[in-house]
Amino acid sequence: MAFDRGFLDELSARNDILDVVSRYVQLKKSGSNYFGLCPFHNEKSASFSVSPDKQIYHCFGCGAGGGVINFIMRAEGLEFPDAVRFLADQVGMQVPEDHADPRAARRRERLLALSRDAGRFFYDQLWAPEHRAEQEYFARRGLVRPVMNRFGLGYAPDSFSALLDAMTAKGYTKEELLDAGLVSKSEKGHIYDRFRNRVMFPIIDLRGQVIAFGGRVMDDSKPKYLNSPETTIFHKSRNLFALNLAKKTKADYFILAEGYMDVIALHQAGFDSAVASLGTSLTEEQARLIARYTKNIVISYDADGAGQAAAQRAIDILKRTDLSVKVLRIPGAKDPDEFIKEKGADAYRRLIEASENHIAYRLDAIAAKYDLDEDEARVAFLQDAARELARIDGAIEREVYIGRAANMARVSVDAVQVEVKRQLAIRLKKQKTAERREIRAPISAAQPRDRTLQYPDVRSARAEEGIIQLVFTDETLLDYLEGKLSPAEFTAPVLRKIYEYARTLHREGHLVTAAACEGYLEDNELSHLALLLGEPVTAMRREQALDDYINTIKTQRARSAAASDSTGEDPLEAFARRQREKKSYGGNRV
Ligand code: CTP
Ligand code: MN
Repeated sequence: MAFDRGFLDELSARNDILDVVSRYVQLKKSGSNYFGLCPFHNEKSASFSVSPDKQIYHCFGCGAGGGVINFIMRAEGLEFPDAVRFLADQVGMQVPEDHADPRAARRRERLLALSRDAGRFFYDQLWAPEHRAEQEYFARRGLVRPVMNRFGLGYAPDSFSALLDAMTAKGYTKEELLDAGLVSKSEKGHIYDRFRNRVMFPIIDLRGQVIAFGGRVMDDSKPKYLNSPETTIFHKSRNLFALNLAKKTKADYFILAEGYMDVIALHQAGFDSAVASLGTSLTEEQARLIARYTKNIVISYDADGAGQAAAQRAIDILKRTDLSVKVLRIPGAKDPDEFIKEKGADAYRRLIEASENHIAYRLDAIAAKYDLDEDEARVAFLQDAARELARIDGAIEREVYIGRAANMARVSVDAVQVEVKRQLAIRLKKQKTAERREIRAPISAAQPRDRTLQYPDVRSARAEEGIIQLVFTDETLLDYLEGKLSPAEFTAPVLRKIYEYARTLHREGHLVTAAACEGYLEDNELSHLALLLGEPVTAMRREQALDDYINTIKTQRARSAAASDSTGEDPLEAFARRQREKKSYGGNRV
């Protein structure tokens, strides 16, 4: 644990989950809980719930759940320590950095220092006299030295151990190099440099720290780009290339490009708000990250089919934030890098100015599929376009684009309107059915199969769940359980871990709450706990209930011991028995 428990208790106490979540989600009260649209997945009906009593949130749709710190981690795309700092800021609390777990913090510091030193090494290699050819590569691509330096570009030599040797000489261990994703391990256990004979693009986080690298070959060999793997300091989906620079821009828009070279070329041409997702399609976390720094985004992807398909996906993701989304189209060039090289910065600026609202862009994309000189094609276009237009939520905006579509197909506005109305009705009906289905669905779907599937012994695990629910409701029950049930008797690893930690918290005088488990449990374990704690617990005869659970756990244990002893039981028979047992569990616990 990175922070003092007492500090975290106070932090959670002072950041009421209802207040915090309300800044992100519109919540409506229903019973003792609050419901709203989940900020972590796209949904039309509210399956996201907050319990102010238990200080937890849980989404029945995507399964996310946890306390206030976990919520901020997801909502702001932050690591645990940064989420803690974020919340401390909100309520004006001082973060006791001295109390931080010295080992975890030091390990992280070491990896960051190693990544920085590796970046420095690649940089020095690039500018070493014997690597003229590599410098030439960048020069040929039109980059000037100050820009290369701003991005910290470098070169990884054609060697299996150049970096390894240089870094171990500086005192870093092989373990640390592996953890930082800078070396790989062969099947025989041999350690070697991951990046060889590649020009290197450091990936730098918001705080200006080198956290990973992308490396490009200088010829046509494959793979063209090689990137760092996920590490404890690098999470691909939570970072954007050049965001550290773009966040300082004076421009009131960001440019989203596909590649490293596009971004660098754009910055060199004066477009200092360009960023790129890191070799994958844009994630929701990245979209939220962008939305923290700007209100407007211009997508500037490659002109080819793949680029345009990726743009469509990016639109969908970006639209889930408040960002106003435009799409820039490049005539007669492959990507922004090439366009700028051929036509210059001013020409690109004109493209930005001409970039279309994403709806107009979609209409154009649809129109491109049809030959609008033919009557049949015009009808098909209108049907296609109407489906798109029916997805626009604002009535005025819809009118504008209905007019535009009518113009494109050279038909009357009324004609388009009729078709859009028809599509709207279909959409509304679908939505209603989906909602009706979902209103009933959440609670039953909230007992997802996978919850019990991960239990080696469902019957015992159900009893273990009951115990967890009770001790999180009334922690003095842990005293009652003392000597009666040990963590080792739990069959489900996740439940055992929670039980064990609850005992530790209680022993050390802390509250036993979901919030107190944040930072200790993994995300999925925390969601699991939030799910359990979201269920109602009967207030009556708790000791009696505990005795029943203990009894079930011990009986199951004896049974499985007997089963594994009796060499006589046919494996098929044993399987069938287990299936029967699973089925006979009715779910009406307590
Ligand atoms: N990419 C990757 N791995 C690959 C290919 C691409 O991670 N094997 C990522 C890189 O971040 C790259 C981006 O996808 O910058 C776009 O790929 P592509 O369009 O192929 O490359 P360009 O950016 O055009 O690179 P270049 O101009 O250097 O050829
Ligand atoms: Mn390119």
